[in-house]
Amino acid sequence: MVDTDTFVPEAITEIGDEIGDANAVIALSGGVDSSVAAALAYEAIGDRLTPVYVDTGLMRKGETDQIRETFDYMESLRIIDAKDRFLEALAGVTDPEEKRKIIGEQFIREFEREATDTDADYLVQGTIYPDRIESEGGIKSHHNVGGLPEVVDFDGIVEPVRDLYKDEVREVARHLGLDELVAERMPFPGPGLAVRVIGEVTDEKLEVAREACHVVEDELEEYEPWQALAAVIGKATGVKGDNRVHGWVVSVRSVESRDGMTARAQEIDWETLQRIQSRITGANDNVARVVYDVTHKPPATIEYE
Ligand code: XMP
Repeated sequence: MVDTDTFVPEAITEIGDEIGDANAVIALSGGVDSSVAAALAYEAIGDRLTPVYVDTGLMRKGETDQIRETFDYMESLRIIDAKDRFLEALAGVTDPEEKRKIIGEQFIREFEREATDTDADYLVQGTIYPDRIESEGGIKSHHNVGGLPEVVDFDGIVEPVRDLYKDEVREVARHLGLDELVAERMPFPGPGLAVRVIGEVTDEKLEVAREACHVVEDELEEYEPWQALAAVIGKATGVKGDNRVHGWVVSVRSVESRDGMTARAQEIDWETLQRIQSRITGANDNVARVVYDVTHKPPATIEYE
C-alpha cells in the first residue's frame, strides 16, 4: 500500500519541478484517477492548471453536477457540453472498436481546442498502473487522451499516479479530502455508457443504461463491488398490460476485483436482485426484462463491449 503521508508531498513537488512556470491541462473524467491527478497538480501549480471536463453525454447520472461541485474551488475549471457532437459522430456505428475510436477522436478534438486555447505546454494525465499494463498488452484500445501528444505539441506529459493501483489512488483521494463520492466511486470506462449499450448508441438506449446503472450502483453499494453496472444488451419479448411488447433487455453485473484485470461475479441475494429488477422495469416502460450476469473475467470482460 502507498504511504500517502510521503506520496502526496513528493508528488506535488515533482509536478511543480516538471512543469515549472508553464501552463498545464488535464481532462477530468469524473473518475477517481483523473480527479486525484488534477487535485495534486492544482496543489502544485494552482490556476496555471486548466481542468477540462467534456460532457460527452455518455456519463453516469448526476456526474456533471458532481464534477461542478467537487472542483468548484478550481477557478480555471472548464465544463464543455459536447453531447450533441458525440451522438452525431456515433450515429449508425455498431462495431465496438469503431465506437471506441470515434469517441477517442471526438474527445481529442474537444480537448485539443481547449488545450490550444489555454497555451498549455504540459498535459497531466490520471493514468494508473493497470492502464499501462492493459494498453501495452493490447487487450483493448483504451480510451484516454493518449493520442493528444500527436495533435498538440506538448513539452511533456505528467502522470502523477502512474505507479499506483486503483485502491491506492482511493487512499490518496481520501488523504486529499476529495469528496467521498469521488474517492469511493466505482471505476467507469472512458467511453462511458457507449460500452454499456450493445450496438448503435442512441439517446433511448443511453437513457435506459444510465438509469439502470444508477439503480444498480445504489442497490449494490453494501456489497462493496469493484464495479456494479447495467448494460442494454438487446431486445426481447415482454408483456405490458394485455399486450406483448418488444422491449430492451438489461443485464446487471457486479464484480469483485483488485485491478480489473481479472474479476469474480458476485453472489447477490434474491430480494436485492428482485428490487433491482422492479426499479429498472418501473423506471422505463420499454424494458422487457432484467437478467443477472454470473460470468467471471475471464472468460467475460467486465464491460459488455
Ligand atoms: P474490461 O471490460 O476490459 O474492463 O474487463 C476492465 C476495466 O477497464 C474498464 N474499461 C475501460 N476503461 N477505457 C477505459 O478507460 C476503455 O475503453 C475501457 N474498457 C473497459 C472497465 O470499466 C473495467 O474497470
